[in-house]
Amino acid sequence: MEVQQQILYFLDKCDTLYSHQYATSTKLDHQKIVGAIKSLESLGNIISVRQATHKSWECTEEGVDIASNGSHEVRLFKSLPAEGRTVSDIKTNFPNSNFAMGAAMKNKWVKKDGEKIIPAVSAIEDEVQVHLKAILSGAADTVSDKIKTEYKKRKLIKQVDLTVFVVKKGTEFTTSIVKQDTELTKEMIESGQWKDKTFKPFNFKAKGRVELRVGHLHPLLQLRSEFRKIFLEMGFTEMPTNNYVESAFWNFDALFQPQQHPARDAQDTFYVADPATTIEVPEDYLQRVKKTHSTGGYGSIGYQYDWKRDEAYKNLLRTHTTAVSARMLYKLAQDGFKPAKYFSIDRVFRNETLDATHLAEFQQVEGVVADYNFSVKNLMGVIGEFYRKIGLSNLRFKPAFNPYTEPSMEVFGFHEGLKKWVEIGNSGLFRPEMLRPMGLPENVFVCGFGLSLERPAMIMFGINNIRELVGPRVKMELIYDNPVCTINKFKDQPKVGTNS
Ligand code: PHE
Repeated sequence: MEVQQQILYFLDKCDTLYSHQYATSTKLDHQKIVGAIKSLESLGNIISVRQATHKSWECTEEGVDIASNGSHEVRLFKSLPAEGRTVSDIKTNFPNSNFAMGAAMKNKWVKKDGEKIIPAVSAIEDEVQVHLKAILSGAADTVSDKIKTEYKKRKLIKQVDLTVFVVKKGTEFTTSIVKQDTELTKEMIESGQWKDKTFKPFNFKAKGRVELRVGHLHPLLQLRSEFRKIFLEMGFTEMPTNNYVESAFWNFDALFQPQQHPARDAQDTFYVADPATTIEVPEDYLQRVKKTHSTGGYGSIGYQYDWKRDEAYKNLLRTHTTAVSARMLYKLAQDGFKPAKYFSIDRVFRNETLDATHLAEFQQVEGVVADYNFSVKNLMGVIGEFYRKIGLSNLRFKPAFNPYTEPSMEVFGFHEGLKKWVEIGNSGLFRPEMLRPMGLPENVFVCGFGLSLERPAMIMFGINNIRELVGPRVKMELIYDNPVCTINKFKDQPKVGTNS
């Protein structure tokens, strides 16, 4: 029978139940009784419960030993042969010899005979063992208080406070308990069973989860919004970067990147199978691009090759956001040129071999400034200002090559943590072969720069493997634990004049 049911039958007969006494009489664990009382209590008013403190006696380690092996004095008495043992033999070979001899003498079980201790009676009874056994089994009441006080002094027993429960019948007392349901189901409603069921009341006092982990931005997104703020502060306008699929025309041809260029290979670029080609490209502009590539113009001899429309119409996943910049600059020329500053931060795709610092997709940060009579100095000024704002003031520019910019410069920043110069971006002045076919006036110059979002994020968050920052291996802790504002981490870098 279940303990709960036993308790109810007991109450039915006896009215009051003391948990500790009940545990002793049924030889059940007190904790088990308490558990049963608690679950009965949760059923409503079947029982009423009151807590009380009960002082109970427990045997110490020595007490337990005596309860099972007998008292020292009895053990000594039993160890004596008829002719007795010498005191020195007892002292060296019998544990607790002094106490055992003293107690055995006091009980007149033994007597002294010269050097020896000899038995004085033929049989004895081990009262101490009897008492301790009783206390051990929970029947301390059968042992007188005087004896208990003495044993306490001898450190054979100790008193402990036990929280006990005094249980009485409740206002809805019954001996037949039905298990309460916790859920009202569709079946119960359909069959009408719900009418006869009792339901467990909601526990409105239950504590909910204290910490609600909501509203955390991924570090990359945090950094993206920081970068966006900086661009906006500097008067840049955000470009619409919502098309991941782009035509080769805008991604490469518009940027004066020849159709044989290795970057256009399928090894580097993801081409789209369906739809494989774009619908349209502004025809007059396309014709100007074609002419510039194949025979030149605007003071250039072009690349001198047979430019193919089919190649330009191919759809691909954009390899850089400069494709968007090209669309915006073309639009700027069509709308009637006015100086402009554009930026974008969005995803680009490259057919890379994945490793600790490369993924096949990443976020590109790009800035473009178009104005009259713009120079390399202006470009370096704009870039310097942007990087200074993100906290990198120690910059170096290194000549580089891009098909669409001349001059082109790679930007290096000194990374204090790594103690070395790391490449953080690419930049340049867009070539006339790119700008003039768009219809931009001759005295208009455009500079641009691009960098990845992941590289500075890795530096800021101290991440060595990009796969810990992006993708399925990202740990939630990274997202939970990073502070909201991160850009200050870069700002701690010491300023050592710009090296150009
Ligand atoms: N598109 C370049 C890249 O992919 C970045 C860049 C943008 C360079 C604008 C020059 C001008 O790295």
